[in-house]
Amino acid sequence: MSASVSPSPLHVAIVMDGNGRWASKRFLPRLAGHKQGVDTLKRIVRACPPRNIATLTVFAFSSENWNRPADEVSGLMDLLAGALAREVSQLKQEGVRLRFVGSRSGLSEKVRQGLHLAELETSSNTGLTLNVCFNYGGRWDIVQAARALAERGEDITEDSLSSAMALSPSADPDLFIRTGGEYRISNFLLWQSAYAEFFFSPVLWPDFSEIDLDTALTEFNSRERRFGKTSEQVR
Ligand code: FPP
Repeated sequence: MSASVSPSPLHVAIVMDGNGRWASKRFLPRLAGHKQGVDTLKRIVRACPPRNIATLTVFAFSSENWNRPADEVSGLMDLLAGALAREVSQLKQEGVRLRFVGSRSGLSEKVRQGLHLAELETSSNTGLTLNVCFNYGGRWDIVQAARALAERGEDITEDSLSSAMALSPSADPDLFIRTGGEYRISNFLLWQSAYAEFFFSPVLWPDFSEIDLDTALTEFNSRERRFGKTSEQVR
């Protein structure tokens, strides 16, 4: 077990950036980096329960990723479908509850079916909740939530909007990690990250290890979260 175990169950969100650069450095096609990224994700998923992380939310495909070259987009779709076909039964045994957060429109019937089955098969699990944001954008989420409330004639409040967001019922993330050395949110969890602690790692996602996760958790545990209050009030 890690030395940096958190006192309370955590929600960790990760922008898994750097796959393309990892591949380029090795003169490999970008998709090789994404494949290695899936292996990293498997390791990090397994590292969560012993570290008291109850929810892990990862950014696997953004609304804007459709603008990438067509072979990379179709490669990412195939990677997801293949990973689901291979991994769901093992994840199910390990108690992981899988959820896909994002728009289903634009996805092929095969991918949609894969997402649906994976959610269904793991729906009664009570271990780690793994939210995979796929065809997701923070702005899309805010708009779809506001639209849903307006269509139902409901009042728009912070609470009602939060509940209508695609990430609900998962709570807001406590720790937001971005790998790959860039300092951007890139339209990930815009609403939900209002009070997240940010950790930017220079490590490219395929190289991100349990030790790097522990570095982020140690840093997180050293922060004082004030939620708008003064230091004296929260101590
Ligand atoms: C960003 O790296 C990463 C992505 C756009 C995809 C993330 C996907 C995975 C880690 C694989 C897991 C996902 C599935 C489909 C199960 P980048 O390509 O922007 O890297 P770069 O900044 O080095 O070019």
